[in-house]
Amino acid sequence: MTITSLASNEISVRLGNAPIGAEIVGVDLAQDIDAGVIEKIKEAYYRHSVVYFRNQQLTPEQQVRFSRRFGELEIHVLKDYLLPGYPEILVLSNIVEDGKPVGLADAGRVAVWHTDMSYLKEPSAGSALYSLEVPHSAAGGSLGDTMFASTAAAYDALPEDMKRKLAGLKAVHHMTKGYDNDATASSSRITYSDEQRRQVPDVAHPVIRTHPVTGRKCIYINQLCVTGIVDMPDEESAPLLEALYGHCTRPEFVYRHRWRVGDLLMWDNCSVQHLAVQDYALPQRRRMHRTTIKGFVPF
Ligand code: OGA
Ligand code: MN
Repeated sequence: MTITSLASNEISVRLGNAPIGAEIVGVDLAQDIDAGVIEKIKEAYYRHSVVYFRNQQLTPEQQVRFSRRFGELEIHVLKDYLLPGYPEILVLSNIVEDGKPVGLADAGRVAVWHTDMSYLKEPSAGSALYSLEVPHSAAGGSLGDTMFASTAAAYDALPEDMKRKLAGLKAVHHMTKGYDNDATASSSRITYSDEQRRQVPDVAHPVIRTHPVTGRKCIYINQLCVTGIVDMPDEESAPLLEALYGHCTRPEFVYRHRWRVGDLLMWDNCSVQHLAVQDYALPQRRRMHRTTIKGFVPF
């Protein structure tokens, strides 16, 4: 592990072995953080794609205030899981109280690599997840990890002829693909109404997109939402997409986050895919508060 001090008695950034993922130390996110420190956090966020802060104690207001420093916040389409009084906070949880789920269980349950809301014309730019309850095994180790894969490192590692082949292609993203095709979907899973489906028609995004801040090229397709490639027959696109999914999530591009209560972790939706590891069940409880930063049209 290396430690880069950005400035004495300010924040420091600790890197692990993965090409993404860094711990930021020395910040209390409950405070109204000054602009200079926010700039340093942003620098680390864009450079490392996933950053996390341990041992935080945040009220919903404080999480919303901190998240807003990164842009306007999104209000999720699934209104049932917004924290009462705080529409900017989406509750992710497997907990059921009085017969009602307290949060969206699927975000932690969809065992498929994805980027969030890629089906929107303007997919979200990133998210911040704050952990309130983390499940544990009988032996005491944490469960319910989240994995992140660098789509920028994956792009860089593509052979040149593949980079040329993908340049200019667009993929079609469909909001409910992951649900429509899931034969194991149970009644406890979320369903989208016809009206919600109509509000979010399919959209085409570049297969290779450019990060608006770093300028890095990123592979932007994901198994949860992509149904095909524009102007390419399925027989050709299906094996190409499969190969890309496998490539993007090769172990050398992956950072695996082991949660502790009080972590605030942010990820960049352009330069990573993520996957919630589904290795726990009630009575092991998991509860997280997510804020989501609005995005822009990918290019
Ligand atoms: C999400 C998500 C992963 C997790 O919030 O979009 O996929 O581990 N969460 O909860
Ligand atoms: Mn997600």
